[in-house]
Amino acid sequence: MITGKTRIIGIFGDPIEHTLSPLIHNEAFQYLGLDYCYVAFHVKKDKLKEAVEGIRALNIKGVNITVPHKETVIQYIDELSEEAKDIGAVNTILNKEGILRGFNTDVNGFILSLKEEGISIKNKKFLILGAGGASKAIVYGILKEGGKVYIYNRTLSKAIAIKEKFKDHGFIEIVEVDKSLTENIDIIVNATSLGLKKDDPMPLNPELIKPKHVYCDIVYPETPLMKEAERIGCKVIGGIGMLLWQAAFAFKIWTEVEAPIDIMRKTLDRVLTKG
Ligand code: ATR
Repeated sequence: MITGKTRIIGIFGDPIEHTLSPLIHNEAFQYLGLDYCYVAFHVKKDKLKEAVEGIRALNIKGVNITVPHKETVIQYIDELSEEAKDIGAVNTILNKEGILRGFNTDVNGFILSLKEEGISIKNKKFLILGAGGASKAIVYGILKEGGKVYIYNRTLSKAIAIKEKFKDHGFIEIVEVDKSLTENIDIIVNATSLGLKKDDPMPLNPELIKPKHVYCDIVYPETPLMKEAERIGCKVIGGIGMLLWQAAFAFKIWTEVEAPIDIMRKTLDRVLTKG
């Protein structure tokens, strides 16, 4: 029940209608009996500054930040966690008595989604497809855990920018994708947005995928290339794990309570299987 004491958590993005975050978090709040309510706000680019000021003005406890604001929001907040500063992107804000602190829980969200499937990262060779916002958090996380990054992007300049940004954090090389490369790779990650839309081309020729590869996709639900990788015999990790774990870390930041991960996972499974 929403009362005069209920604390508000939000998400700012454009578009926002498709977000699953309110469902995941509200189910978790209810399960634990926490007096919070999570709502989605449709915030356009030219209203982001006012929206962030609104966090303070309305005493909103915290927000998630999603596309296209993760980078531009930084200029409007007061403090950054080390990860958010290194990556240059924020997906979670905590309002602590009027001081807004930015975090990036996508990093550990991705790492945990691999670890919970028993995948070790140290010294593994990762082929990262894509060099957008999501790719940055993933590359940073892999390097932090001692993995090696081979990055490919359609637009070379964006891959170069990521390499420049993270070259002091570990091994990162820009590559063209062919058979001799993939033979040497342990884990393939689709960090592009391909697979979101029905008619998208695949981010990689499936002939380059072998049973020895682990195939990860940040897109959910299942993409055509995930299906192919499964058919080939790979271990496949979809984007739901990252979605779930980034939410769990944000939940802890706002409430200081461990997230009920099983409840969140069940909620996601339920809505995604309903389609
Ligand atoms: P996000 O924040 O979700 O990562 P983004 O920053 O817009 O979104 O990045 C999207 C990524 O998907 C980019 O790497 C993009 O490649 P470009 O940098 O060349 O644009 C990639 N991508 C999107 N559509 C693509 C397509 N049709 N073919 C190849 N790559 C594509």
